[in-house]
Amino acid sequence: MAEEIREEVLESRVQTYIDTQANLDLLRFITCGSVDDGKSTLIGRMLYEAQLIFEDQVTSLQQDSKRQGTQGGDIDFALLVDGLAAEREQGITIDVAYRFFSTDHRKFIVADTPGHEQYTRNMVTGASTADVAVILVDAVNGLLTQTRRHSFITSLLGIKHVVLAVNKMDLVDYDQAVYEQIVEDYREFAKQLNFTDITPIPLSALKGDNVIERSAKTHWYTGPTLLGFLETVEVHKQEDNKPFRFPVQWVNRPSADFRGFAGTVLAGSIAKGDEVRVLPSGEVAKVADIVLYQDSLPRAHTDQAVTITLDREVDVSRGDVLVAAEAPSEVSDQFDASLVWMDADEGYIGRNYWLVIGSKRVNATLSDIKFKYNINTLEQLSTRSFGLNDIGRVTLSFDQVAPFETYEDCKGLGSFVLIDRYTHATVGAGMINYALRRAKNIHRHAHDVDKNAREQLKGHKGKVLWMTGLSGSGKSTLANGVEQALHAQGKHTFILDGDNVRHGLNKDLGFTDADRVENIRRTAEVAKLMVEAGLIVITAFISPFRSERDMARALFEDGDFVEVFCDVPLDVAEQRDPKGLYKKARRGELPHFTGIDSPYEAPQSAEIHIRTSDMSLEESVAEVLKHV
Ligand code: ADX
Repeated sequence: MAEEIREEVLESRVQTYIDTQANLDLLRFITCGSVDDGKSTLIGRMLYEAQLIFEDQVTSLQQDSKRQGTQGGDIDFALLVDGLAAEREQGITIDVAYRFFSTDHRKFIVADTPGHEQYTRNMVTGASTADVAVILVDAVNGLLTQTRRHSFITSLLGIKHVVLAVNKMDLVDYDQAVYEQIVEDYREFAKQLNFTDITPIPLSALKGDNVIERSAKTHWYTGPTLLGFLETVEVHKQEDNKPFRFPVQWVNRPSADFRGFAGTVLAGSIAKGDEVRVLPSGEVAKVADIVLYQDSLPRAHTDQAVTITLDREVDVSRGDVLVAAEAPSEVSDQFDASLVWMDADEGYIGRNYWLVIGSKRVNATLSDIKFKYNINTLEQLSTRSFGLNDIGRVTLSFDQVAPFETYEDCKGLGSFVLIDRYTHATVGAGMINYALRRAKNIHRHAHDVDKNAREQLKGHKGKVLWMTGLSGSGKSTLANGVEQALHAQGKHTFILDGDNVRHGLNKDLGFTDADRVENIRRTAEVAKLMVEAGLIVITAFISPFRSERDMARALFEDGDFVEVFCDVPLDVAEQRDPKGLYKKARRGELPHFTGIDSPYEAPQSAEIHIRTSDMSLEESVAEVLKHV
């Protein structure tokens, strides 16, 4: 009997604990700073002092500290946070570590992000969901490049509240003047950024001053302790009062009589009977039911994952967005955005990527890079490409309209990732600043004489034969042979040759990757016009990148684009060396030479594959003609 009562008491205590915890609100924050500013020590200190570590963890921590600690036998709090073995060995934090803890006032999720420059992308990941940023500065060193970099990214990602944690005050004898100078420097720098408030706190993560307990050593300081601030800072989250936004993640159709749209409410709330609009189609319907597992809910709120059914058949597919009927999102296909580049391979103006926004995937072209930042000085630099960790402003064009919000209005519908179509790597993350109205008054003219009519007059179809291959692979020779044969048959032809086009239309372009991308883009557009004119166009460009060849292909109707791979081993091309360029390249006098120090991505499924070293010119020409 006594046993049962004890169990009941225990159960009700546990229940009380769970209930209180469930009702506490959640603050997400990020810590950032330079490598040795003491982030990990600070988080470890908070977890330890708030007594959130279990006994056995403390024991293992003490042992670890003895073995590897940098604090001579005392507990090294950084070890608690730098949890990964690899990190311990390198002595740096290399990825985002999320930690959860709670006090009587609040629950916290902290993203601990690395200080090294090359890990900007991790910081972007960590900061994208945070409400507050704790920016650590070492009192001895003052503001560093990293402090500015991290503050800038923090601001870019829309974090409004910043704690300037001036750490290691113990090393400067808790000198108020040192602290005041750092605060003043920081406020001056932060004028260019978008923070609502900056709260400076002098502390020592190592000694515990002003982390949780107010320190007697900083008697001149009257502000809050770090935890005190984090427990009470107001972060206005009014997502629930905003208009309803719900990207459809998948269409759930378990049986013929149920069709639900599953997803997470990004903003606002929705009740049964409310009218919603499906974007981009614009169709309107009423919410019939809101389903969560087996239950039917009267209302779904921001952040809830639910399945919604509608009162009538409307066309909804994955990637569409259900929005409040009377306050819909805008749709557009061209945007000004801020972009962070996350891939070792560069991004170029004119290149195509997959872009995921909400739960929609579109094809997008990086149509312009307006500038990239020198993020230490916030200077704007002009560039044609983006390298790892570059941040800048770009224009993106989608192949279809998509519903969106600006990042400022709704992070979920205002942010996107760019994905490489071949490697499927995430190469960039971005934020929409605003939609660019694509010149809406420029409509395509439908002329009475069209491609069809021109083809009839000529007696053959317009087409492009796209030759690709190394320099010296025989593209121009083959193009010439094919044109002669077609011309003899009375066909209307035109050759676009790299060496020639680069003397006129493309004479402003060189051989950097970015310039080659643009070279092919322009050539493909010209070839398209010529095909519209009813010509058989033969192009002879190295066109080394798969991405741009595919972009060219996408401009044409099925069957009108014929890729011809002029395949030759590099050593054969190099022996031929008709223009003596390989020799120059080998001597280092011709940088970015394809095959030598610039890549050639061979086609994997070209319509025609010609090994020009194994076949005579006549045989090669005959092979190509089979496809015309
Ligand atoms: S592409 O890569 O942009 O498609 P394109 O076919 O127009 O190249 O031009 C290639 C021609 O330019 C070569 O046949 C060669 O004559 C010349 N050339 C000059 N410099 C280079 C270089 N660095 N790499 C390749 N070709 C070069």
